[in-house]
Amino acid sequence: MAAKQAKPLPGTTDRRIDALLTLLAENATIVISGAKIAKEIGVSRQQVFRWIEKLRALGVRVKGHPRTGYHIERVPDILAPQLLIHRLRGTAFAKRIHHFFKTDSTNTIAMHLGEAGEPHGAIVLAEDQTAGRGRAGRTWHTEKSAGICCSVLVRPPIPPAHAPLLTIVAGLAVRDAVAEELTATPDIRWPNDLLVRGRKFGGILTEMHAEPDRLHYAVIGIGINVNQQRLPAEIQDIATSLRIESGKPHSRLEIVVRLLRHLDRYYNLYLADGYAPILRRFAEVSSYFRGKRVRITTARESFTGVTAGLEASGVLRVTRDDGHGTEAILSGDVTEA
Ligand code: BTN
Repeated sequence: MAAKQAKPLPGTTDRRIDALLTLLAENATIVISGAKIAKEIGVSRQQVFRWIEKLRALGVRVKGHPRTGYHIERVPDILAPQLLIHRLRGTAFAKRIHHFFKTDSTNTIAMHLGEAGEPHGAIVLAEDQTAGRGRAGRTWHTEKSAGICCSVLVRPPIPPAHAPLLTIVAGLAVRDAVAEELTATPDIRWPNDLLVRGRKFGGILTEMHAEPDRLHYAVIGIGINVNQQRLPAEIQDIATSLRIESGKPHSRLEIVVRLLRHLDRYYNLYLADGYAPILRRFAEVSSYFRGKRVRITTARESFTGVTAGLEASGVLRVTRDDGHGTEAILSGDVTEA
């Protein structure tokens, strides 16, 4: 059923800024007069000037000024809906893209959208988050327009107990999306950490609204450190960004497009063929799938053991060193032991 066009959410990026970006991007290297831009997007020339200043503050290299006209040197790396939509055609994610220059948490927004009846496939993107959330109540640090903050609303016909597999599906998509950007091969540490050379560059926070036997909707929140050149001191030893790893800037726009295309593919594979192909792929690309010595820390205890594959629901199995057999880990922290 086609969804009604929703009213823009409070705080969402003005569609005319989106149009301004698209106009500049489609005419990159050509000088366009402020008056022409103002006419095309339906605002005053002063407003165009204010928005250009705003884009410059975000790192978009707009040359020129109101009298000479404006141009950009290359397509700006802002995750603007109009720049994304045509690249996502054919996926579930091309219809509803909500973009914010700043918001508290894209997951919070997407959960509200889920409650309000927003359809499957809606995307929330932010250039910056003021209260980004990580797993286990942790904070997810973001730097303006340097990383990817993306939440995807899904309405899968699966029991809530199988929701951990959504995190696995998203992890595979992130892994494949960044693999071409790096020379080192990315790894996935169950359940939600994306690593390169042992340090974390991305994470996934899946939240849901469910009854015991029915999942109403889930939000898959994906955070990727892309162009940060430094990370806060307290996480420098355990975290990294693609730029820190490769020594060069990466296009967030390209990565988001690839990420959502891979997510669409893995999600459809999961719904069509079940957990088996997903777990097979996870086994291929995650060094944590089987035979890894790990320390597991849950709310109840901390113990060491060896990983022994995943269950159909996406839960990790670990054979304990203390002789108490193999246990299914529903949630907890996993570190290499
Ligand atoms: C983790 O590794 O602990 C999960 C981090 C998830 C961060 C992303 S950023 C986009 C989305 N919005 C949030 O507030 N969190 C997720």
